[in-house]
Amino acid sequence: MAELTIEARGLVKRFGRRTALDGLDLAVEPGQVMAVLGPNGAGKTTFVRAVATLLRLDGGTLRVAGFDVRREPEEVRRAIGLAGQYASVEPAMTGRENLEMVARLYGQPARTARASAAGVLERFGLAGDADRLARTYSGGMRRKLDLGASLVSTPRLLLLDEPTTGLDPRSRIELWDAIDGLVEHGTDVLLTTQYLDEAERLAGHIVIIDRGRAVASGPPAELKRRVGGNVLEVHVRDRADLAAVTAALAR
Ligand SMILES: Nc1ncnc2c1ncn2[C@@H]1O[C@H](COP(=O)(O)OP(=O)(O)OP(=O)(O)O)[C@@H](O)[C@H]1O
Ligand SMILES: [Mg+2]
Repeated sequence: MAELTIEARGLVKRFGRRTALDGLDLAVEPGQVMAVLGPNGAGKTTFVRAVATLLRLDGGTLRVAGFDVRREPEEVRRAIGLAGQYASVEPAMTGRENLEMVARLYGQPARTARASAAGVLERFGLAGDADRLARTYSGGMRRKLDLGASLVSTPRLLLLDEPTTGLDPRSRIELWDAIDGLVEHGTDVLLTTQYLDEAERLAGHIVIIDRGRAVASGPPAELKRRVGGNVLEVHVRDRADLAAVTAALAR
């Protein structure tokens, strides 16, 4: 079997008395776009930060691109790109300068950095605005620049934490198209979102998390069938209670 892109087993993360991840299990297969869907405070950002090796877990095991985040964080970091819920664009630099700087930080020589920046600007439709200061960009353009910055190094896995939150509908659609383009180039994507429509639009597989645990997962159509209608699933501990439960529900 091919190695999983992400394999999370029983992840636990506590912040003081608050438990952000409470035994989270999740697997992403290669070639998959996975959406982690959940309400505010469900643990989405905490999970993304764990995958990005940005926090210390209190329990469980987490492997990314075959590497253990605890024992092999350097290897994990080389395999991933991260674009945040809060864009990390430097406003006092132009779009092109932002991207070239990131490429240089990844260790690319100046000439390679210039070429990667130009490639990303082209891919995201920012070439015409490349030499304007990022502070003059719209919210959608900044997000694209932020997304582009995570791609100058062609990561195997791209992490997108709520990539379209706060964008207007048009910018949202443009960003979706940009993400489609990456997927066509063969980048695996893990994204978080609070919106079912976004998860459906972008992902082949969805995991719904709530209070730090995975509560349902599957392809969008299957999940909608299971949770979309007004279906109430009731499990009884003892078969003998079935009649009483049925009667109670019929009331
Ligand atoms: N650095 C921190 N210190 C204390 N508590 C934290 C910290 N980071 C997250 N938490 C708590 O952990 C829980 C999960 O937070 P997290 O940011 O992962 O949720 P989220 O699903 O990303 O929510 P949102 O949709 O609002 O971005 C929340 O209860 C949050 O308050
Ligand atoms: Mg979050």
